[in-house]
Amino acid sequence: GRVWTEIGALEGQLSGQSVLIRGVAQTIRPVSKKMAFLVLRQFTSTVQCVLSVDKESVSPQMVKFATVLNKESIVDVEGIISVPKDPITGTTQQVEVQIKKLYCVNRSVPNLPINIEDAARSEKDFEKAEQTGVQLVRVGQDTRLNYRVLDIRTPANQAIFRIQCHVEDVSSLAGFLQMRFLRSEGFVGIHSPKLIAGSSEGGAAVFKLDYKGQPACLAQSPQLYKQMAICGGFGRVFEVGSVFRAEDSYTHRHLCEFVGLDVEMEIKEHYFEVCDIVDRLFVAIFDDLNENCKTELDAINRQYPFEPLKYLRKTLKLTFEEGIQMLKEAGVEVDPLGDLNTETERKLGRLVREKYDTDFYILCRYPLAVRPFYTMPCYDNPAYSNSFDVFIRGEEIISGAQRIHLPELLTTRAEACGIDVKTISSYIDSFRYGAPPHGGFGVGLERVVMLFCALNNIRKTSLFPRDPQRLTP
Ligand code: 4AD
Repeated sequence: GRVWTEIGALEGQLSGQSVLIRGVAQTIRPVSKKMAFLVLRQFTSTVQCVLSVDKESVSPQMVKFATVLNKESIVDVEGIISVPKDPITGTTQQVEVQIKKLYCVNRSVPNLPINIEDAARSEKDFEKAEQTGVQLVRVGQDTRLNYRVLDIRTPANQAIFRIQCHVEDVSSLAGFLQMRFLRSEGFVGIHSPKLIAGSSEGGAAVFKLDYKGQPACLAQSPQLYKQMAICGGFGRVFEVGSVFRAEDSYTHRHLCEFVGLDVEMEIKEHYFEVCDIVDRLFVAIFDDLNENCKTELDAINRQYPFEPLKYLRKTLKLTFEEGIQMLKEAGVEVDPLGDLNTETERKLGRLVREKYDTDFYILCRYPLAVRPFYTMPCYDNPAYSNSFDVFIRGEEIISGAQRIHLPELLTTRAEACGIDVKTISSYIDSFRYGAPPHGGFGVGLERVVMLFCALNNIRKTSLFPRDPQRLTP
């Protein structure tokens, strides 16, 4: 085969070098009958290619052929690298390719529903355009999601999903630099069933279905099964998988299907052992993103500028009561045994940042009444629980807790929460055969990426988002 060069690898190549590249024709700009510019794109990179009539290989017909190509067509270019110099300062500019041969591999339609350059613009571009009286097209969210295969071609979107993959890697599978954090900490990767008999978090937010004549639903979380894996003697388990929630609320941070990273582990003395894993896992993830995803973070920053995440080497841990007190001192009254809402969470996030200089922290010891039935009450005060939420920039990315490993208490708590214990009898029975104290947490992957990059909507970090109003594409 021939030697192909990725567009991202062109920068730094020497003038005069022959290259063969494949890319998407992002921009086609005719200059005259003898000359045209083509911007080719691949992933987060672009390169300007120059097509100019010469004696050997480029004819006026070729220039004409190029100028009638439809945008977003796939093209192959054989050409020569040229590194133009600024005529005044003499400094070298971005690498260009002088086209010698041009093939169209597959044509795109002439009228695209989304123009990628429009879709890639930042708020700054719009401000600049307004000042200079230029009219730019704004691509709305619905249009983007309706034509998602086009929308995800923007550099920022290409970067978002590479970052998402990286977060998964570092936490679990083929991590960079042998990090494989959870594996190295003795966690075993598992796959729990997604077709299950009942709800796992309580509440009505389940998708019901017919399982060969038996009522069933899509798993709301791996919760009950990851705990049963602990009962099965695995010690420490994790899972990265799809989670289904029949959400009624249409918000910036809820999806009906998302990717969950679930962790469950035996604990020896205290549920803070679970918080300790959160602390070290996320410091490793954030460090790794900052270190190894600079290109992707730059691409996102160009379209959606954001401040780098502030986090401490040792993650801050506050109690719910301390949080309530901070809010109170700032003039915000909240129910001390209730839950925080989006607004009070964000407010607390800002207060924490002011006081402790971090955008990432753990809030623990939540009131028992606002936690799921399987949550362990505090030994010293059963109005509270051995549980925690974790926040990035004032928004929840994780909830976790110690679980009840005592079958009698579990039954009592399930009944108190209005759950029909018959539907979870095999789960409760799992704790009758000798079950160790344990705890764990669940992370929403889309939320981690959204909030690390300070994006304003979870639909931006889901490849083909499913929300209460969207099932296609
Ligand atoms: O807070 P949740 O519902 O907790 C559980 O599922 C527990 N079983 C976890 C545990 O081990 N204790 O969900 C966990 C995380 C949330 O913090 C959030 O990041 C994400 O999952 N999440 C959602 N993400 C997108 N859309 C939704 N509808 C989400 N619901 C929860």
